[in-house]
Amino acid sequence: MDKSLTKDIDFLSAKAILLKEISNFSSIKSGSSKLPEINYDKNESRIRFHARSLNKNSILDCFEVVKNHIENIKLHTLSNGYYCLQALHSNLYDTKSILDNAKFRFSILKSQPEIEITKKGSFVEAEILTAIELFRLTNEGDKNNSIVDPREILQNLGIEVYDPLLEKAKGNTISFDQIFGYEKVKQEIFESLIMPLKNPEAFLNISNLTRKYPSNNRPRAVLFEGEPGVGKTTMAKAVSCMLGIPLINVPIESIMSKYFGESAQNLAIVFDAAKAMDTVLIFLDEIDSLAGKREDGLFEATKTMLSVLLRKLDGFEGKPNSITMGATNRKIDLDSALVSRFDKSIYFPLPNASERTAILSGYAMQLDEQLRRKIAEKLEGYSGRKIKDFCDMVERRHVTQLIEKNLPISAPSSEDYLKIIAEI
Ligand SMILES: Nc1ncnc2c1ncn2[C@@H]1O[C@H](COP(=O)(O)OP(=O)(O)OP(=O)(O)O)[C@@H](O)[C@H]1O
Ligand SMILES: [Mg+2]
Repeated sequence: MDKSLTKDIDFLSAKAILLKEISNFSSIKSGSSKLPEINYDKNESRIRFHARSLNKNSILDCFEVVKNHIENIKLHTLSNGYYCLQALHSNLYDTKSILDNAKFRFSILKSQPEIEITKKGSFVEAEILTAIELFRLTNEGDKNNSIVDPREILQNLGIEVYDPLLEKAKGNTISFDQIFGYEKVKQEIFESLIMPLKNPEAFLNISNLTRKYPSNNRPRAVLFEGEPGVGKTTMAKAVSCMLGIPLINVPIESIMSKYFGESAQNLAIVFDAAKAMDTVLIFLDEIDSLAGKREDGLFEATKTMLSVLLRKLDGFEGKPNSITMGATNRKIDLDSALVSRFDKSIYFPLPNASERTAILSGYAMQLDEQLRRKIAEKLEGYSGRKIKDFCDMVERRHVTQLIEKNLPISAPSSEDYLKIIAEI
């Protein structure tokens, strides 16, 4: 390697070289990128900049740039969306600590991916050149290619984006018809979610006629409340299908357990990505994981997560054709500031006898209405999920017996259902 490239450059000269080179780039001149920050503090040099076109696919190109300029490097960290390269000594037998050498950090999970280069002491020319090249690679070029796809960010976090168009193509569309009974709930959802999001202008116009100070008639956020298994998640997906708007399914519980310590940051990323999408529904499932009043001495992590959520909900509100839905089993335990963000709450009760009969028509259609009613009476207190699980169990028992007896396949009779009820 050219010896001059490995000589220390004093901080002010390094800064001058870096900024002079980069200020000539077209992305800086057009204002689409910002100049890097470069500073020197507590004996550490640091360069930091946004990388417009950095994603999982282009990270290897960045590694290649580093490898072109720095003779020996090792991959220091490779975790979900964070990568760090550590420069080794040019003489690999050198026994000095490598920790003072340059580190190149790439973070692609943020809504604006970032590159940071740090080093104890002064940079050498090779490191400044690397920074310039990395900036060029991740900021210059076709603007259309450079926007990070928010869906990719969500995917990297393991968050499901339920896409109704894709589901339709696969023949998996969910509509009100697949949710049996619950006429009142459907009516409320139709009026407060489907109609306002489908006809925003009509809803604005009506409030112009009625209100002294016109405001949007659409709820800010809607909370689905009810016991486990009563169809809240299914309903959120049905809303997405009926509107043709993708649903970001955010299981709060799994964000909290999977990314302990980083969960608040990840929640913020989810909302930033949602904001960057055209139109979108956010579904905060199992919001109970944040339950507990703020005064209750919550875990630090839960507290930070809650305050991020409150701020982000406020920021998301008002995005055209987009809305937040949440689901909870225990509304009374939720933080009151959080509950107040949901200005509409829809209660999903346990199904009554006639609803249980209707649900059975979906999972035991071979039985006539009268028999279904008889079975439904015995399933008092059962949720839709429990009824479905019960029907699954009857079918499994029945088919096993048919196979064992070498009989042709037939649907279970009402006796088969009643027998199992007697057992449980
Ligand atoms: N009214 C219903 N009609 C048809 N199927 C139902 C009904 N209610 C629940 N189910 C079925 O029960 C299962 C569980 O429903 P879902 O996951 O939507 O419940 P949930 O309220 O979100 O539960 P949890 O609070 O545990 O998340 C689904 O397979 C769903 O199809
Ligand atoms: Mg659910």
